[in-house]
Amino acid sequence: MDHFLYRDGVLHAEEVPVPEIAATVGTPFYLYSRATLERHFRLFDEGLEGLEHLVCYAMKANSNQAVLKVLADMGAGMDVVSGGEYARARAVGVPGERIVFSGVGKTRAEMVQAIEGGIRQFNLESEPEMTVLNEVAVGLGAVVPVTIRVNPDVDAKTHEKISTGKAENKFGIPIARAREVYAEAAELPGLDVIGIDCHIGSQLTDLAPYAEAFDLVVELTGQLRADGHDIRRLDLGGGLGIPYERSNEAPPLPVEFCNLIKEKVGHLDVEVEIEPGRLIAGNAGVLISKVIYVKEGEDRNFLILDSAMNDLVRPAMYESFHEIIAVNEPTAGAEKARYDVVGPVCESGDTFAKGRVMDEVAAGDFVAFRSAGAYGAVMASEYNSRPLIPEVLVDGHQFAVIRPRPTYEELINRDIVPSWL
Ligand code: LLP
Repeated sequence: MDHFLYRDGVLHAEEVPVPEIAATVGTPFYLYSRATLERHFRLFDEGLEGLEHLVCYAMKANSNQAVLKVLADMGAGMDVVSGGEYARARAVGVPGERIVFSGVGKTRAEMVQAIEGGIRQFNLESEPEMTVLNEVAVGLGAVVPVTIRVNPDVDAKTHEKISTGKAENKFGIPIARAREVYAEAAELPGLDVIGIDCHIGSQLTDLAPYAEAFDLVVELTGQLRADGHDIRRLDLGGGLGIPYERSNEAPPLPVEFCNLIKEKVGHLDVEVEIEPGRLIAGNAGVLISKVIYVKEGEDRNFLILDSAMNDLVRPAMYESFHEIIAVNEPTAGAEKARYDVVGPVCESGDTFAKGRVMDEVAAGDFVAFRSAGAYGAVMASEYNSRPLIPEVLVDGHQFAVIRPRPTYEELINRDIVPSWL
């Protein structure tokens, strides 16, 4: 459920008519709903009630500081994967003890930044990384809490580019080698090995791969405890999928995911962390765009929008589906049209949808891409010298630009033409 609904024949974000925002901000722009963000966070937080837990929002999904603030104010932790994300989380006041640091390629500089700024734990992904973190920690006179990410070799049954828990993926250490690696880690004076981390992929639409992975983590917990490690925290990752296509069967609900966690690890006397990103932000955002032209081709009609692959890259990158609707509600029973929906960027890959049957629209009309709150703005680029598009947050009757559209001056003034040219 989200808060983007038609009212009086026009799409609203919570209480605000979308055309009103478009008139102020111009198109294209990302539009987020605070109420939806809060609702989604609460589903996880309340779903894990009864277990000692922390929901660490995977801020790679949407790291605008206003979005982070909404969640941080509700008590969310943050899952960060770079020094930049760490800095953003700290900038909105997330305390270090609520930040976990994931990722396969943490640099020494990032480790120093997080140790000095405060960190809940590092999720380690390899032995070389373990050695370096130990060196950095010892150099700073610190002992840092760590989990080790295990790769359970389960098939998450999702798009191959976002699957992370198979043996061939770059993530984590093979679970079969875990006892050996934990034994090595326990010898390192700069590390305090407190738990296990496991994340198997993104946009999962089935709980079975989670169940398989959690069983393996539970078994490993027993073995590691028997080996003398004080395993007291499990980070079970994120990845729960969202319904991009309303016609499809909906993925499992957060409450079902949380119940599975309770069922599998509830008896272990551990603190649980999860790292949802997409489910919190995805359906809390839409991308609003304007039709520039409807171009009638020989065998197809092209809907040419003012947004492009640089603004929302997911369709070009993963062939992903985003529902596209007219901002002005079509009249009941109105005929649908079929379009290839494209942007103005100069390559054929700049296609949002081929042969899409959708609301009929005309030049000048606004359209909304649904489910664009996660992995939308954060993956945007300035390809074709198109400035990053603004982001707007709605809260009831009010809205605010939470990242403005840069001017062309700002865009081009970042280049430096050397004096010797
Ligand atoms: N934790 C870790 C260690 C991750 O690598 C990820 C996502 C998450 C949590 C959050 O997963 P989520 O709950 O959002 O599914 N750009 C792609 C998605 C990449 C996901 C990468 N890792 C897309 O647009 O579909």
